Formats: sequence, C-alpha cells, structure tokens
Amino acid sequence: MKILAVGDVVGAPGRDAVKALVPILRAKHKIDFCIVNCENVAGGAGVTPKTAQELLGTAGVDMLTSGQHIWRYREIGPYMDAEPRLLKPANYPKGTPGVGSYVYTARNGTKVGVINLLGRVFMGVDALDDPFRIGMKQIEEMRKQTPVVVVDMHAEATSEKIVMGWYLDGHVSAVVGTHTHIQTADERILPKGTAYLTDLGMTGPYDSVIGRQVEPVMDKFLTGMPNRFDVATGNVKLCGAIIEVDPGTGKAFKIERVQEQFGD
Ligand SMILES: [Fe+2]
Ligand SMILES: [Fe+2]
Repeated sequence: MKILAVGDVVGAPGRDAVKALVPILRAKHKIDFCIVNCENVAGGAGVTPKTAQELLGTAGVDMLTSGQHIWRYREIGPYMDAEPRLLKPANYPKGTPGVGSYVYTARNGTKVGVINLLGRVFMGVDALDDPFRIGMKQIEEMRKQTPVVVVDMHAEATSEKIVMGWYLDGHVSAVVGTHTHIQTADERILPKGTAYLTDLGMTGPYDSVIGRQVEPVMDKFLTGMPNRFDVATGNVKLCGAIIEVDPGTGKAFKIERVQEQFGD
C-alpha cells in the first residue's frame, strides 16, 4: 500500500496547494492513505476548527498531525476532543485536549496507526514527556490492531529525529520528520524495515523564509528588532514523501520524496 505524508502546510497558499494537489497525487500514485501536518495552516501558526475542517474536507486528506503551534487558537482544544482525525503530539502531558495517536482505516481497508511526537531539543516547550518512551508505548498499543504505523516526529534537531528513526526501526512502517520546513535528502529504509526521512519539507510559498515574507525576517536578523511576519505568497510547492508498505507485515520497502509545484 502507498502512504502520502505531506509536510507543514503554511497559511492560505499551503491550504490551496493541498486542496489542488492532494487529489491529483492520490490518483496519479494510487495513494491509500494521506497524512498532512497542519500546525501552520491558520495564518502561518496554529490551526482553527475552520482551517482543520477545510483540510479534512479536501478529497484525499485522511488525517492531520500537528506540532508545538497546535494550541495557539483556544477553540482548537474542544474541537480536538471530538475530532480524532487531528492529532496533538502524544507527549504533551496528561490533561491537554485531544489524542496523540489513533488507528484509522485507509482507502484499501488496511488499518493505519499514526502517532505525532514532539522533540525536546531546541523546541522551547517545557512540559513535555519523553517522546521515545511515550511513543513506544502508544505504538505497541496500536500494533495490537495493525502492523502499519506511521510516526510524525515534529522536531528541530536532526540528531533527535534520527535517533527516533533508529529507536523505532522495525516497530513502525515509517518515521517522517516535520517542523523545520526544509526537506532533507536522507530518505532511506532502515535495516529492520522502517522508512525514514528527517524532514518532509514545507507545503507553502518558497519565495520566503520558511513560509514568511523575506523582508521582515531579514530585518529582524539585521536589526534585532521584533517584527510581524506575514505569510509569503510566491512559488508555492507541496512537499512530502510517498511510502510503500507491505500491509501484512507493516514493513516499508520504498520511500520517495515529493516536491510538487502549485501554479506558476
Ligand atoms: Fe511548522
Ligand atoms: Fe513546529
């Protein structure tokens, strides 16, 4: 079976790219299941019920993962309590809304478990539980239902993401990274059958600084003054990866990066 994982979708340009390109990619590559990281969909940071619904209503988006921006809009908490197709990072402490892992049914009838984890290195989030041990525990739980499990490791440090890949090798079908908004070129199948990619890359405007207009960000670096960073508009791409998995064993046998231009 084929799984499409799409990296951080930024603002309206990113949402438009998902709505236009995911149905096309699904048909072209015969995708059975599609994961989209939505932590930047509402104005560049965070997600609202409306924008989550917009993506979930898109033909071909099965579920959404997130990251540290998930709590930016207060109304998302109650929404997540009722909508398991939007995951929070599973290692946010007990008492936070929503779920961090869930088992879905793909188009081909295969059950697919997905877990979202948040790294602890350079992330600026103080109250996180251990993503490794929480991750393994919830993955073991999901594997009672299905061998096909995908991990969105939302983190800054490449080392932490790579360690997660090795730690979960043979326990999951894929570990794919999000958060940096820059696609890495290290896709591979680890020795025990886990597909790995450090970062899926951003879905949004590439004439930008990781999705924001260049000038205000440049100005901040040059002057140190705080600035407002609006979402950029030019050169929109959808980035991610397609993973091929044996649904019987859950082992991956192929991972391919995707970089698809949207508009001119
Ligand atoms: Fe992001
Ligand atoms: Fe993030």
